[in-house]
Amino acid sequence: MSEPLILGIESSCDETGVALVRGHELLANEVASSVDQHVRFGGVVPEVASRAHLQAMVPTLRRACEAADVDLSQIDGIAVTAGPGLMGALVVGLSAAKALAVALDKPLYGLNHLVGHVAVDLLDHGPLPTPCGALLVSGGHTSLLVVDDIATSITEVGSTIDDAAGEAYDKVARVLGLAYPGGPVIDKAAQAGNPKAIAFPRGLTSPRDLEKHPFDFSFSGLKTSVSRWVEMRQRDGLDVPVADVAASFQEAVCDVLTAKAMDLCEARGLTHFLIGGGVAANSRLRTLLEERAAERGIEVRRPRPGLCTDNGAMMAALGVEVVRAGLRPSSLDIGANSGLPVSTVLV
Ligand code: KG4
Ligand code: ZN
Repeated sequence: MSEPLILGIESSCDETGVALVRGHELLANEVASSVDQHVRFGGVVPEVASRAHLQAMVPTLRRACEAADVDLSQIDGIAVTAGPGLMGALVVGLSAAKALAVALDKPLYGLNHLVGHVAVDLLDHGPLPTPCGALLVSGGHTSLLVVDDIATSITEVGSTIDDAAGEAYDKVARVLGLAYPGGPVIDKAAQAGNPKAIAFPRGLTSPRDLEKHPFDFSFSGLKTSVSRWVEMRQRDGLDVPVADVAASFQEAVCDVLTAKAMDLCEARGLTHFLIGGGVAANSRLRTLLEERAAERGIEVRRPRPGLCTDNGAMMAALGVEVVRAGLRPSSLDIGANSGLPVSTVLV
């Protein structure tokens, strides 16, 4: 049987993504971002994002079909983000996918955005060896997972008890007067800074915390600590060394993420580990994880940075796996679920 040709649609936050994937081959990946419209608010405004999705959906779909030289009649199914994400934003993509499913008489697969962040790596590195540990780090989520089967069996073993890692980047960027989204700008500013300049706290790493929360994260104390440090400098009439603060903050985040990732591999005897989500584009996270994994003989997989942030390819890639696994398509009356748990791959 030839590989399934899947149309992927993503609209959970501020990126309208439409992609075409055949098997593990990425044929087209078109993304229209409304990020410029959110910059002045310092974060995504749900109503603005929903309207932007409405305007971008059809043109982005057209561009993807042209880039892949595919006619919609050729596709084998439609994979769309059903959650988690912003409700109004999700509804736009889901409605578009349902309309296409009806008009083209093709199966609809309502899928989990978070699992899509893991699945997208298959486009770059082929089939996933299982079991595989995974760290999902995005603007809304920070979780440690064990993937036994990408289509049917994902277990969350830990997650953030407060802010997500990406959220901490975005908030700290605001404190430092840097642009939104904060991840890429802090990543860049940190290159010129000293990661040891300021000893910021590592959340949930004391022996007592590790006992109760071995695989959970907390970034809200770190964020507050950075704010206090910056406020004190300003109160004392001193300059804020942006590069050093960025590098020291980033080191605290990446240290905890990678330490707990390695603890999970050791606890479960995992020899393969994957990182996904927007923060997986971070240069320091990648280097530190690779260093620590290499010391333990663990193989790290990470999608190319351009596929780490939200896109349609991640949903199409997951759609391929779900079709291959022979799972039943979603009903046309499924709803968007802003709080969809990561263990539910297909709605
Ligand atoms: O996965 P994603 O595109 O959207 C969500 O599903 O949330 O992740 C967006 C998050 C933002 O918080 C952004 O600041 C962060 O990913 N991010 C980064 C980098 N690029 C994007 N964080 C750290 N370093 C980066 N290079
Ligand atoms: Zn995402």
